[in-house]
Amino acid sequence: MRILVTGGLGFIGSHTLVELLENGYEVIVLDNLYNSEAKVKEKIEKITGKNIKVYTEDLLNKESIEKIFDENKIDGVIHFAGYKAVGESVKKPLMYYHNNLMSTINLLEIMKDKNVKSFIFSSSATIYGDPGTPKYVEELGRGKTTNPYGTTKAMIEQILEDLYISDNEWSISILRYFNPIGAHSSGLIGEKPNGIPNNLMPYILKVASHELEILNVFGNDYDTPDGTGVRDYIHVVDLAKGHVSALKKIEELGKGLYVYNLGSGRGYSVLELINTFERVNGIKVNYKIVERRAGDLAEYYADSSKALKELGWKTEKTLEDMCRDSWNFMKKEIG
Ligand code: WQD
Repeated sequence: MRILVTGGLGFIGSHTLVELLENGYEVIVLDNLYNSEAKVKEKIEKITGKNIKVYTEDLLNKESIEKIFDENKIDGVIHFAGYKAVGESVKKPLMYYHNNLMSTINLLEIMKDKNVKSFIFSSSATIYGDPGTPKYVEELGRGKTTNPYGTTKAMIEQILEDLYISDNEWSISILRYFNPIGAHSSGLIGEKPNGIPNNLMPYILKVASHELEILNVFGNDYDTPDGTGVRDYIHVVDLAKGHVSALKKIEELGKGLYVYNLGSGRGYSVLELINTFERVNGIKVNYKIVERRAGDLAEYYADSSKALKELGWKTEKTLEDMCRDSWNFMKKEIG
């Protein structure tokens, strides 16, 4: 099977490309390099020993998508491409709604025209909103999202549901990620956000490498064991493997609309993550407790039993692995 991977040079996309190639899939990559680097192509080729074709195009340009489908026989699509910074989305909602929604609609319209109807979508636990329970199961359904980024994810899920109702020849898998961190064991690919990171692990890495002075821990007065926020961190390689499992399920079952949580099934607090990072890497991370970040929830983590039951997938890597692999990547990046 040949899979078009949009956003394939990004953090999760690049790790998924490695797993697809190592599982015998052929891949075509579309990435506009808005939040990724062209050199990731060579790193993926070095890891896998396979050449990949990359189109540096933008999904907002419908003709460029059509060209890719005309030039390549594509059997399915994994769609990662999209803006994903929660804070930025609050400041620039129109940019987020236009980019994330229109790029997805363009892609789906071309797929429909070309009769390519296998689609895996990169969704997020943020679509649950604040369901009033920390353990998220798929049946909770979409809640009231708290930022435009999360709302675009929820809207795209709705679009996919409506598309399937209109034409049940589609095979659609919606994957709801929890908190992806870590890096490939080679240290060649990992998470490298531009500028000041929004997310916890990239911020820790920049403090550990002295690029930033100190980590602000957003609140220690939550109703959690140590008062700091609790999240379900998942190693990005485990997450990538989850996409291969979802693809195999689509190949096996064909038509259908499937929704899965991809998380480890347990939560770790901010301080637990900091302490684990320090312990496995022998590094001190300077931090200070500050006020809560607006919009943050105290605690949530995945119930991923459905992915285990239906996809035969579960996480294998530990928090130690995530901390070790993240730092290994950062050390190679800073040289
Ligand atoms: C994790 C914990 C913070 C930064 C978001 C999106 C989600 C996905 C992952 C894209 C929280 C605390 C963080 C810092 C801190 N994004 N924290 N200091 O908010 O759980 O999820 O990112 O796909 O969709 O919603 O992730 O890493 O920002 O925060 O104390 O500098 O770390 O309060 O408890 P979050 P995060």
